Amino acid sequence: MLEALRSIALAVGTSHDATEIARAAVTAVRPAFRADAVALFLSDDPDNGERFQMLEGFSASVVERLRNARAGKRHPDAEIRALLEQDGFTFVADAPLLSRGVTIGLLSLARRDSAPFSEAQLQMLAVAATITGVAIDAAQVSDEAVRRRDQLRALAAENVNAREEEARRIARELHDEAGQLLAGVHIALEGIARELPASAYPRVLETRALLDRIEAQLRGVSHQLRPPVLDTLGLKPALEFLAGTVSARTGAAVSVSGSTGGRLPNIIETTLYRIAQEALNNVTKHARATRASLELARTDGRIECTIRDDGAGFHPKTADGGQGQQGLGFIGIRERLDAVGGSLRITSAPSEGTELFITMPVIDPSAKKLSRADR
Ligand SMILES: Nc1ncnc2c1ncn2[C@@H]1O[C@H](COP(=O)(O)OP(=O)(O)OP(=O)(O)O)[C@@H](O)[C@H]1O
Ligand SMILES: [Mg+2]
Repeated sequence: MLEALRSIALAVGTSHDATEIARAAVTAVRPAFRADAVALFLSDDPDNGERFQMLEGFSASVVERLRNARAGKRHPDAEIRALLEQDGFTFVADAPLLSRGVTIGLLSLARRDSAPFSEAQLQMLAVAATITGVAIDAAQVSDEAVRRRDQLRALAAENVNAREEEARRIARELHDEAGQLLAGVHIALEGIARELPASAYPRVLETRALLDRIEAQLRGVSHQLRPPVLDTLGLKPALEFLAGTVSARTGAAVSVSGSTGGRLPNIIETTLYRIAQEALNNVTKHARATRASLELARTDGRIECTIRDDGAGFHPKTADGGQGQQGLGFIGIRERLDAVGGSLRITSAPSEGTELFITMPVIDPSAKKLSRADR
């Protein structure tokens, strides 16, 4: 008998899926209790009646009547017993599926032969039903947790996409609208210059030079918001462009190596680009480095990026979890990574440079629900 119980515990322990656990329990219970038929019912809540049932060993007509007896009934147990007795089952035993002090369903056994279920068997049935109840409940709770996590992730990804869309719109507006206006000012200035005495010309030239600087700055801001090369050529050329601007600004040698193995989903490219942008901003602002490197690697189903500098370094604990003045850079990086199921590892120490290791799965969380294998 204990051996039978063990086989039931093993059977329900082999899966994290509620339906599979129910099936395993039904299959294991039948020989263990020498039952001719087994029924397992699960109810969502008591007012709702039946939600799920698994029947084994009943004739088709009983199955049909069992389904009807169960549907919408608050206390169908007595009715089920009566039905089974009518159908030639001489002995019926059942036990509630219990978990966390609540009845979540019912496990019923039926025999056609003359031997009734013994007291010991009834007690064992109660234990078997509780094991099954706890296992099914745990599977449902963990399914719910995974569903919520996937939902949160999808929301975060949507948020990232919305922010990017907004950045793209502002970048376009700055580039097109403001650029157009400035071109208009150039033309107007030329007209004015023609009407002015030659002695005023140097001041016109000065004004023109100022306009050119404004235009260059606008273009810089527009590219920072959304580098066109990221959309047209992809991640690596965009990172090379970024490295070039950081190099020009700081005098440090910034290299980009490795490969992405082709184009990646939009959200992955954007996420990596934004993280690299912030990491290199940090190099510019804090590191006083002479060299920095950005290394890409594509492994099976994942993309990795390592960003190193040989600069001042810092205590990652104080920057990340400390109190007082805290930057938004690492917080933003972690938010973006959360949205795509990625992670960040910071290795740094004062005077020893900094290394950021970023890894993320190459999937589009807003387009595809995670399968169990990805978790
Ligand atoms: N490459 C680096 N070299 C040296 N120190 C760094 C580097 N990257 C980050 N830090 C340290 O970690 C801190 C936190 O960085 P984080 O990007 O979160 O904020 P921040 O750069 O100070 O501000 P924000 O990014 O909001 O403009 C920085 O203030 C700096 O002290
Ligand atoms: Mg920063």
